[in-house]
Amino acid sequence: MSTVTYKTNTMTLPIVENVLAQLSLQNILLVGSLLLLIIRIIGSPRNLPPGPLGFPIVGAIPRLGKESYVKFTEWTREYGNIYSVRLGGKTIVVLNDIEVAKEAFVKHANHCSDRPHIADVRIGLTVPGSLVFENGPVWKERRRWALGALRNFGVGNRSLENKINEEARYLCQEIETKAEVAFDPFHVVNNAVSNIVCSISFGERFDYADSTFEFLLLQLKELFASLGLVSAANFFPFLWHTPYKAKERQLYKTIKTFVVDIVNRHKKTFDAKDIRDMIDHYINEINQQKEKRNEIVFNPDLIWRGIQDLFQAGTETTTTTMRWIILYMLHYPEVQRKAQKEIERVFGRERTPSWEDRSELPYVRAMIMEIQRCSTPTHSNVPRCTNAEIMLKGYTIPANTQLLLNVWGLHHDPNMWDDPYKFNPMRHIEDDGKTIKKNDAFLPFGIGDRVCIGQNLAKMELFLFTVNLLQHFTFKVPDDQSPLPLNDVIVGVLRSPKPFCVSAIKC
Ligand code: HEM
Repeated sequence: MSTVTYKTNTMTLPIVENVLAQLSLQNILLVGSLLLLIIRIIGSPRNLPPGPLGFPIVGAIPRLGKESYVKFTEWTREYGNIYSVRLGGKTIVVLNDIEVAKEAFVKHANHCSDRPHIADVRIGLTVPGSLVFENGPVWKERRRWALGALRNFGVGNRSLENKINEEARYLCQEIETKAEVAFDPFHVVNNAVSNIVCSISFGERFDYADSTFEFLLLQLKELFASLGLVSAANFFPFLWHTPYKAKERQLYKTIKTFVVDIVNRHKKTFDAKDIRDMIDHYINEINQQKEKRNEIVFNPDLIWRGIQDLFQAGTETTTTTMRWIILYMLHYPEVQRKAQKEIERVFGRERTPSWEDRSELPYVRAMIMEIQRCSTPTHSNVPRCTNAEIMLKGYTIPANTQLLLNVWGLHHDPNMWDDPYKFNPMRHIEDDGKTIKKNDAFLPFGIGDRVCIGQNLAKMELFLFTVNLLQHFTFKVPDDQSPLPLNDVIVGVLRSPKPFCVSAIKC
């Protein structure tokens, strides 16, 4: 048996020590990034669109900053309208213009309409029963049913219009009690907007002085602000089981308990001859499916989940947009005056506004659209993922890849909008001064098979609430204050203005 003797090379040790001593943190990061690049090149699927580099483990998360959509837009200058980026352990493909958005979500709709497994939703809220997060035939059937149910409860007809106008009257009365003293419009607007989706879904509205409901809406606001679709917990799901997510766990629980209680009350008082709202409609559908022995895609124990989606999606998005509208009025008083003149010409001070007459108010509609574009509350769409390998702009996107549409980028794309960072309502009106211009890159409600199911409801709410408010009030910056800057935002699921105060002067 031979013995092998290892000799230490006494010359090499000092050299190694010397090299190690010279490695600064910067060098370590550089070497780490190079290693990551090598691993990525070797390990990632061939022909994925190239994109920005990140750090070991966390990927590019630290590079995103507070406003991820701004970074996503900056990166288009280097990487073009489609690139991939590693966030935590996941590779995401970011789509940045209308052409690539159409190719993915319209041309490849069959393969790009699933939602990915987002930890914030899967662990925090649960997916089964959801309108927003389920996939496949169950989602298709539930979406078809929900669209029909929304029509049934007035979306697109006079009964809903009356409901919104009635709520707008309550809102104006409430604002009048502020007697032109500075107030934060958040609560009243939030309550008014939520009452519309609540009356469709639960059959009830809540008084502005109802402190329990106010507390619930505050919880919802906090939840939307604390979650982000590019949040760390989505890429490191174990965080959900740590104290780091304790607050969100509690917020979800409170909102779920509220909805479950309402659903249970409906189950006890259900009468097939008197369908009061969407929950009753849901119970009725399930009963009929049982009688006809159809395949049951609606589970009575999961009714709360779809209703909670409607409540959440219908409350926070529209409230945030209405708050942006009020804030823009403070910054652009001449735009507010022009809108008020148009409203006065068509409806006067007393006549209740109507949805049917909206074609007579091109400026008001263009103003709302421009505020939606400039503020872009839904800065990125609710993420999608591929369910099969597809080719996109010559790149190969593997199955189960998360796709993120950078709506902020689309709304500020210089190829689609002149001077995109300028606020200019007239850009949405044709030269005839009446017709609303169509621009394909205007996507506040998303695109393709998963486009927002509440968009007709939301458009009606935004129009009627705005017209009612400007018919009765002029919004002004309170004395001795300056308006909240338009870029002073809170970014979570939505891009919202920080809290601000207004004075509402009676017209
Ligand atoms: C200004 C208000 C609103 C905005 C900006 C908005 C925006 C959006 C966006 C961007 C999406 C994702 C679309 C995509 O994946 O491409 C979406 C989905 C959805 N929205 Fe809205 N929304 C608004 C109001 C509403 C209202 C009032 C309701 C409820 C009645 C609602 C219910 C939903 C639902 C259920 C989905 C999921 C659709 C699906 O996955 O099939 N939204 N919304």
